[in-house]
Amino acid sequence: MSNGLLAGKRGIIFGALDEKSIAWQVAEKCVAQGAKITLTNAPVALRFGGIYELAEKIGAEVIPADATSIEDLENLLTKSQEILGGKMDFMLHSIGMSINVRKKRDYDNINYDWMQKTFDISAISFHKLMQTAMKMDAVNDWGSILALTYIAAQRVFPDYNEMAESKSLLESFARSFGYHWAKKGNVRVNTVSQSPTLTTAGMGVKGFQEFFDYSKKMSPLGNAPASACADYCVAMFSDLTKYVTMQNLYHDGGFSNMGMAPEVIGL
Ligand SMILES: NC(=O)c1ccc[n+]([C@@H]2O[C@H](COP(=O)([O-])OP(=O)(O)OC[C@H]3O[C@@H](n4cnc5c(N)ncnc54)[C@H](O)[C@@H]3O)[C@@H](O)[C@H]2O)c1
Repeated sequence: MSNGLLAGKRGIIFGALDEKSIAWQVAEKCVAQGAKITLTNAPVALRFGGIYELAEKIGAEVIPADATSIEDLENLLTKSQEILGGKMDFMLHSIGMSINVRKKRDYDNINYDWMQKTFDISAISFHKLMQTAMKMDAVNDWGSILALTYIAAQRVFPDYNEMAESKSLLESFARSFGYHWAKKGNVRVNTVSQSPTLTTAGMGVKGFQEFFDYSKKMSPLGNAPASACADYCVAMFSDLTKYVTMQNLYHDGGFSNMGMAPEVIGL
């Protein structure tokens, strides 16, 4: 169902790898709500992912960009403005990758070069995107910028490894940059803290299926699916949330406020 919530708006969606990706669902819903968008992902992901299938389906162009490269981000923002015919109204950072997790290094045996690369991809890229866009004056007044995060930024989830610190950093960038961009251009910046979701990035975490089941029991409404996360992102990109900024917003079926769930201990 479309309410035209994003009619006339332009945006960039990062991180749609395949149909399971949260960004894939967000892209589809933004277009359904009237937005014009460009899609982007790292060049390597374009080779083995399904992004061109999505692009064809929703009539969007794909612009390759490694989110850690300022040059790529400048090119992405220039081309997106040319293709869409003006400045952006919204951007979704849906990017996460841990080298130590991928290479199966435990948290107490971290490779620090890999850790820095992880922080660059999963968190610093968000600052790079915002700083580049602000310098280029590529976002309209009252624009809305979102990044996806996880509650391991606040609480300990042992197998989340260095992604916990990546998410803490990401959320902190949203708060701090949100201040500066509000003052300079009335642009709002928030993070959405999503339930565990069955995607390529999610399933890279050790024991993910068992953890997914646990989280479902701990959440009174159950785990929020990717499609519901996409609806929430649409709401955050719309003019109905203009004064929400510098927040970490839980989209998790209630998980974040639970202490004990009878289902978990078999009561
Ligand atoms: N799946 C979950 O359980 C879950 C829960 C909460 C938050 N999140 C977050 O949601 C976001 C999206 O993840 P997802 O679950 O949809 O998985 P996904 O694997 O579909 O998406 C991750 C994306 O990051 C992209 N990426 C990696 N390195 C990049 C780079 N250098 N430049 C540009 N893009 C790069 C990948 O190509 C991929 O498209 C991530 O930030 C993730 O941490 C996921």
